[in-house]
Amino acid sequence: MVPTPEKARHRTIRSFVRRAGRLTPSQARALKELWPSYGIDFSTEPIDFDRLFGRSAPVVLEIGFGNGDTLVQQALDHSASNFLGIEVHEPGVGHCLLKADAAGVKNLRLIKHDAVEVLQNQVPTASLHRINIYFPDPWPKKRHHKRRMIQPAFLELINSRLEADGALHIATDWANYAEHIDAVVAESSLFTCDERREHDGDQPLDRPRTKFEQRGLGKGHRIVDWRFLKRSDLD
Ligand SMILES: C[S@@+](CC[C@H](N)C(=O)[O-])C[C@H]1O[C@@H](n2cnc3c(N)ncnc32)[C@H](O)[C@@H]1O
Repeated sequence: MVPTPEKARHRTIRSFVRRAGRLTPSQARALKELWPSYGIDFSTEPIDFDRLFGRSAPVVLEIGFGNGDTLVQQALDHSASNFLGIEVHEPGVGHCLLKADAAGVKNLRLIKHDAVEVLQNQVPTASLHRINIYFPDPWPKKRHHKRRMIQPAFLELINSRLEADGALHIATDWANYAEHIDAVVAESSLFTCDERREHDGDQPLDRPRTKFEQRGLGKGHRIVDWRFLKRSDLD
């Protein structure tokens, strides 16, 4: 059968499937009322981080922050840094807005959009001090491995957005995804592995425990945490 032009067109493989959002009334209110204080709309214009945060400070990005508890805690714990979170799941963004507002956190902004498009369009080259990707969706079925976020092209993209010697933190509770991450990062040669920890939830690497980590631990999974450093000898 000859594919229709629609079918023949290359489709981007995304790392997420939009789940029907069951927003609680308070999350819906937060998305309306708190968004002007914390939210940044997706656009194709690069962000001026110094202007956005009203100060010049290292920028830490969390990709796929889920309900945002870890992100808000890190923003509170590291008040000298500016934090940016990207998440597509609306209820998670609503939850994070409520948490941020209750904590009175000032050094945090959120974007509700696909992180790949945000990085390509809004995040300037060499503008990030650190990127955190905690418990990315594991896509355990073999036919879905192509949806995993950590892939060669994605590593290239995030590497370009990190400052010289910037750090990439990743954690997972899926043994098969951990093997995949080890292999893809080693193959790319864009990062050096500064630290790799396997643990039972008792040695998180410079981060609080996350919701999905808690879930994985409940299933008896072991955790792997990495800190990779951008290789600056390649510039
Ligand atoms: C397994 S959850 C982990 C959430 C949180 N980091 C934690 O550890 O509790 C992965 C999250 O990544 C988000 N996500 C996946 N791909 C994304 C993308 N391309 N852009 C933004 N968020 C994404 C999903 O919506 C989901 O909330």
